[in-house]
Amino acid sequence: MKILITGGAGYIGSHTLIELYNSGYNFIVYDNLLNSSKEAIKRVEKIINKDIIFIEGDIRDTLKLKELFSKYSIDSVIHFAGLKSVAESVSNPLEYYDNNILGTLNLLKVMKEFNCKKIVFSSSATVYGDPATTPILENFPVGGTTNPYGTSKYMIERILEDLYISDNSFKIAILRYFNPVGAHESGALGEDPNGIPNNLMPFIAQTAVGKREYLSVFGSDYDTHDGTGVRDYIHVVDLAYGHVKAIDYLNNSNKIKPLIVNLGTGIGYSVLDVLKAFEKASGKRIPYKIVDRRVGDIAKCYADTSYAKEVLGWKAKKTLAQMCEDSWKWQSNNPDGYGI
Ligand code: NAD
Ligand code: WQD
Repeated sequence: MKILITGGAGYIGSHTLIELYNSGYNFIVYDNLLNSSKEAIKRVEKIINKDIIFIEGDIRDTLKLKELFSKYSIDSVIHFAGLKSVAESVSNPLEYYDNNILGTLNLLKVMKEFNCKKIVFSSSATVYGDPATTPILENFPVGGTTNPYGTSKYMIERILEDLYISDNSFKIAILRYFNPVGAHESGALGEDPNGIPNNLMPFIAQTAVGKREYLSVFGSDYDTHDGTGVRDYIHVVDLAYGHVKAIDYLNNSNKIKPLIVNLGTGIGYSVLDVLKAFEKASGKRIPYKIVDRRVGDIAKCYADTSYAKEVLGWKAKKTLAQMCEDSWKWQSNNPDGYGI
């Protein structure tokens, strides 16, 4: 039996392949390479010393998905595939809804047709919008999203919950990631954003390596310990292992309600905390300028992680220093990412 990994060539997916392999799982990867490179798969093959079954395709391509489910015995899906840029989703909402919503609906229909009823879905802390308090618990209100990307994640969560109501033999895990950063400790695998990075860690890494002149710090008047935005940064390898625990959980439970769980560290670091930690890890000085707040940003966002510990037996282990060290190893070894 195999796990279908949609979006498995991407940043989080590629790291998850290694953790799944280390835990003895078999998988196949399906990705349209819209935001990734085949090179990531080659590097994973090198790390695990095994060939990977990779199929290039789109989750909106029903025929191709059906072919896949006919050819392989797939008993579960980890669904990473989708578009993820907040800014792009504001300027191109139709493309985001088409890819994320239609793509997921299509995948779920094919899964149902082939009686494949276990799915782990990549959701996001963005579904909480601007929380009234921190740390954020899973039962906080969701849906107050401020951009089409976040709304698409919220809608998919609702679709999955309704699917379960209609057929409670579906086993569903909705993982709400906080801020994934870092890279594989080999330095061979990491995040390779297209163009100018929107996210903090890749921007800092590219500044440290000399590709960007300085970091713009978006606002210094937030209600936080140093005035800059606070987030829950989680090492991508810890996050990847959370997927193994989620699959274990689905495999070891009988009929269960959809599991909704935060994957974060529970610790909030500010922009300046991350900048200083990266300077230490890289030995480079990172110039920065304080600029206006970015529209849509919130002051603080970090997880209450007790439910993940209780239900999955999972806890993030890696520190901010390790996140920065691994990110720097990846960036300095691969200044142009995978070179696509
Ligand atoms: P990524 O862009 O690196 O990976 C997504 C992968 O999906 C890419 O390889 C892309 O080529 C593929 N893809 C996109 N549309 C597809 C389609 N229609 N058919 C097949 N493949 C398609 O992103 P990531 O950071 O690895 O994120 C993985 C998932 O986690 C996404 O769903 C994202 O929304 C979610 N997520 C990411 C973050 C984050 O900060 N990175 C935070 C929370 C949630
Ligand atoms: C982190 C902090 C910025 C860049 C986004 C999505 C979220 C999730 C993760 C997918 C904030 C500050 C950033 C820069 C800065 N993705 N910053 N200068 O906004 O918490 O979350 O990515 O699901 O949905 O919204 O992450 O890395 O963009 O920002 O000062 O050049 O860094 O203001 O405080 P964010 P981020």
